Amino acid sequence: MSDDKIKIAVFVSGGGTNLQALIDKQKSGVITSGKISLVISNNPEAYALERAKKAGIKYAVVPRKECATQQEFEDKLNELLTENNIELIVLAGFMCILSESFTSKYPKRIINIHPSLIPSFCGKGYYGLNVHKAALSYGVKITGATVHYVNEIPDGGEIIMQKAVAVEDGDTPEVLQKRVMVNAEWIILPQAVEKVCKLLLMCN
Ligand code: GAR
Repeated sequence: MSDDKIKIAVFVSGGGTNLQALIDKQKSGVITSGKISLVISNNPEAYALERAKKAGIKYAVVPRKECATQQEFEDKLNELLTENNIELIVLAGFMCILSESFTSKYPKRIINIHPSLIPSFCGKGYYGLNVHKAALSYGVKITGATVHYVNEIPDGGEIIMQKAVAVEDGDTPEVLQKRVMVNAEWIILPQAVEKVCKLLLMCN
């Protein structure tokens, strides 16, 4: 029998604080149209896996390094997604590039959280702390986070949600990163997931 919620896979690589925000917001009722069914990490050491385990969510590791080619890596991801009937992929701090052959299989079914206001500080090479270093060295006074659909252009898909955050005097990349996470990422990612799941349910 088909479930009345969109089955979500969350792709992670590291600490997984955005995954935690999704888990918490699913519990508190912000996310009601979707269900986190699977967590996939390319990194066996990712603390995000502990978070999945503690929350009782099924998880899998697909180490990119152990795959001879991008194709092999993506074949393994596809297999897991199909096996688990996944309908929406959320990239939450996933630090691997996905090829066009992968992204084109899931049009408007992959979303990503990026720690800046796109189109600033995004694209190739802009990930994690690098984004905040670039924002500080440019001297912007406002930064933030963006949730967008994923297509073949890195950070180039349609924007779903954005939230601005002030840069303060004396900010280090780490301090700014934390402020952007707390005041933007952990808020808009769950909201965007709910919004997209609602849309997908209407199309089902
Ligand atoms: C987050 O700041 C996320 O926006 C960023 O990596 C961090 C992961 O933290 N993602 C990117 O830079 C993708 N381009 P988390 O593992 O604690 O969620």
